[in-house]
Amino acid sequence: MENPRDNGATKHRKGRRVVLFPLPLQGHISPMLQLANILCSKGFAITIIHTRFNSPSSSKHPNFSFISISDGLSESEASTADVIALVTVLNVNCVLPFRNCLAKLLSDSLEEPVACIITDADWHFTQAVADSFKLPRIVLRTSSVFSFFAYATLPVLRERGYFPIEESQLEEPVPNLSPLKAKDLPLIDSRDPEDLYRLFSCIFKDIKVSSGLIWNTFEELEQSELITFGQEFPIPVFPVGPLHRYFPASTGSLLTEDRSCLSWLSTQAPKSVLYVSFGSLAAFDETQFEAMAWGLAKSKQPFLWVVRPGLVRGSEWLETLPNGFLETIEGRGHIVKWAPQQEVLAHPATGGFCTHNGWNSTFESICEGVPMICLPCHGDQKVNARYVTDVWKIGVHLENRLESGEIERAIRRLMVDSEGHEMRDRVMNLKEKVDLSLRQGGSYRALESLISHISSF
Ligand code: UDX
Repeated sequence: MENPRDNGATKHRKGRRVVLFPLPLQGHISPMLQLANILCSKGFAITIIHTRFNSPSSSKHPNFSFISISDGLSESEASTADVIALVTVLNVNCVLPFRNCLAKLLSDSLEEPVACIITDADWHFTQAVADSFKLPRIVLRTSSVFSFFAYATLPVLRERGYFPIEESQLEEPVPNLSPLKAKDLPLIDSRDPEDLYRLFSCIFKDIKVSSGLIWNTFEELEQSELITFGQEFPIPVFPVGPLHRYFPASTGSLLTEDRSCLSWLSTQAPKSVLYVSFGSLAAFDETQFEAMAWGLAKSKQPFLWVVRPGLVRGSEWLETLPNGFLETIEGRGHIVKWAPQQEVLAHPATGGFCTHNGWNSTFESICEGVPMICLPCHGDQKVNARYVTDVWKIGVHLENRLESGEIERAIRRLMVDSEGHEMRDRVMNLKEKVDLSLRQGGSYRALESLISHISSF
């Protein structure tokens, strides 16, 4: 674990408060809380404003002040699988509660006056609120820079009449977005396809006038993308990632972690176990779930599988596992509802990660030198998967229909074949770059400059 360095500047920062506002989804809450921990360790007082929906656990962060605001979500809005509709409605419902909350904070005679707010990039409405209080707003973007460009290209492609994409065009390269193919574009199904374009154009517009952007990535991984970003968005940028490596893991988990899997892992041989997990949102139908189960069984490799309640649409938990599956895998597989993922990836027994390629999962895997089997579902996951397999060459892509024989072959390629060993060597090389970046490279410098930037307000 790396520790944030203190360059002695803490003294003059005493007395400043930073207000952070995470988007209430697992993949966004954790990086924001990790950032809050880093800033706290650098001497800033921390206030977290959060929605009632998916509220973080305040007891895990005794040093922060938490303020809950109303999000106005109905029961059906809160349980929707339509993330774009959810984020769109939150950006409307939270305007007034957020404004009132901030007004009160600013008028309270706080011991530490507020230096700035830091909000998730998806909370685009907060720019206008910050402007009205003449308060700087810094944005946290929790995904990679290259996937940001893929999103930014969507409206341009639409204007040129690129959509809808015909079946026959899916394998074709996307203009100016090498190595992406048409099927990798980060489209997300939504009740109204226009919502996606509207949401992203608001996000881009408000990033452009913000006081800076924090990336959960590191310079050495995305150097050229960061340069291009700087040309199009002339604002200060801080690629300080990986945020989760500054402090011990998992303080932002919304679900209870089943730690039994760590003792089970300790009974397994080094680098022998395939860790299988698809993040907090991805869902499968029963046929895909069954194919996954038999693929794991037939591969004959040990595995740790996170089956989150809700992973299989319409089912509670394991009731759709095929008959005979549990007997077949006896002793070779372990299933949990939610794992301490960063610790699992860092465990010496873990040799591969079958993932949906959410950016947090992808980055956490890189940071522990674990090669991947990529099974992306939607949005940026498809872009991340293409980079994992075609640019960094640290994973196997499952691109076709989920079928047990394909899954079995992918597992054997990664866990048994020499091809998998080569991928492991390459991802270990990236892990070393991460460590160096945190110690004395890009991330080290970006954090120093972020601290001076906030201190200058
Ligand atoms: C979402 C989007 O799907 C993703 O594409 C985007 O980049 C961020 O927001 P999610 O699907 O949840 O996130 O995936 P991911 O980004 O991988 O985040 C999941 C987080 O949950 C990771 O930090 C992971 O460590 C954690 N996790 C997952 C656990 O702690 N335990 C588990 O069992 C599974």
